[in-house]
Amino acid sequence: MTPLSTLNIGQYTTRHPIIQGGMGIRISGAKLAAAVANAGGIGIISAMGLGMRSAYFDPHEPSPKKRHDTFLEANRLALIDELQTARALSPHGIIGVNVMVAAHGYEVLVKTAAQHGANLVISGAGLPLKLPEYTADAPTVALLPIVSSARTAKIICQKWQRQGRLPDAIVVENPNSAGGHLGAKAQDLDSPHFEADQVIPELIAYLRDELQEDIPLIAAGGIWDRADIDRAIALGASGVQIGTRFITTEECDADRRYKDFHLQATSEDVVIVSSPVGLPGRALRNPFVEKVAAGALSNFQEPCLVNCLKVCKFRDSRDTYCILRALDRAAQGDVETGLIFAGSHAGRAEKILPVAELMAELTGAE
Ligand SMILES: Cc1cc2nc3c(=O)[nH]c(=O)nc-3n(C[C@H](O)[C@H](O)[C@H](O)COP(=O)(O)O)c2cc1C
Repeated sequence: MTPLSTLNIGQYTTRHPIIQGGMGIRISGAKLAAAVANAGGIGIISAMGLGMRSAYFDPHEPSPKKRHDTFLEANRLALIDELQTARALSPHGIIGVNVMVAAHGYEVLVKTAAQHGANLVISGAGLPLKLPEYTADAPTVALLPIVSSARTAKIICQKWQRQGRLPDAIVVENPNSAGGHLGAKAQDLDSPHFEADQVIPELIAYLRDELQEDIPLIAAGGIWDRADIDRAIALGASGVQIGTRFITTEECDADRRYKDFHLQATSEDVVIVSSPVGLPGRALRNPFVEKVAAGALSNFQEPCLVNCLKVCKFRDSRDTYCILRALDRAAQGDVETGLIFAGSHAGRAEKILPVAELMAELTGAE
């Protein structure tokens, strides 16, 4: 296997051009991020919902306002803990934090990540237009927006340039294959316009001809094996971001039953599910997802727990379901009533591997 190139992002150089995608509600915490960083990639902690299972939060607090405030503070404190744990496990690795623009507490989480040792902040699920402003005091922290189209990347570059900053790399995520929330409307999914072979060359031409900047592009969505990595690099990407494949690793922070559910899934089990954010998501079929599709959820009486999202159909009109609880149930191992986000290649994993072994398989490095 020919060796892959190193990847330069801001002031950091990684041995392998592989970023592990942030996976919310404790699927990618300190353990997974540190293992990927130790194996020569970039490990990413997802900041989403870290406070939920922390000692800092009491889900039984009766006041909704107090629950909301405590949750936001718990997310902040739990992120600091998670960064400390990751750093202890990987003192020299490159570790970043994924923060979703769509989440309440976005600004605080970005600032917390930057102040507590994250080397990178990756941000999508909305336009991260203020990321440079929020990290102005931490100029060594590399900033990576996530986009699904060249158009969005252009808007971000133009706005950031006015703040004296440009992305250190851009994650180009294909909604036709990525796991989790997708950056496209349900009716637009499967459009060839989102495919890497369209978006990456268009973006390279823009960066070269109009912006005259050399910004690395990171292809995400549906990257499973070395052939996928080679294809992305041949298109002009400098690296890849991989989510789903890292779930079936020993170090993934999810419950063992969550990983086992991935092992027994087949490609036919990967489905599109609606979410209270108003965006489609890609997930594994289970009784919960079937109930969502049939409009037959019986948890409508469940109150909104913490008002975690800026836009939420469940909070406002009890439409769909509480996504925080659904993702949390799954991460804790309840694969019947939890929501198991997964990319289009889910179902291909045959066993649970140590991260180092998976990285060696992907890179060919010892
Ligand atoms: C379980 C799961 C949770 C995810 N959570 C987040 C998240 O919190 N924030 C985010 O920006 N992307 C999230 N993603 C997207 C991943 O970071 C990654 O970009 C995507 O999974 C890449 O596609 P792949 O799974 O086909 O490799 C999630 C994906 C999965 C599978």
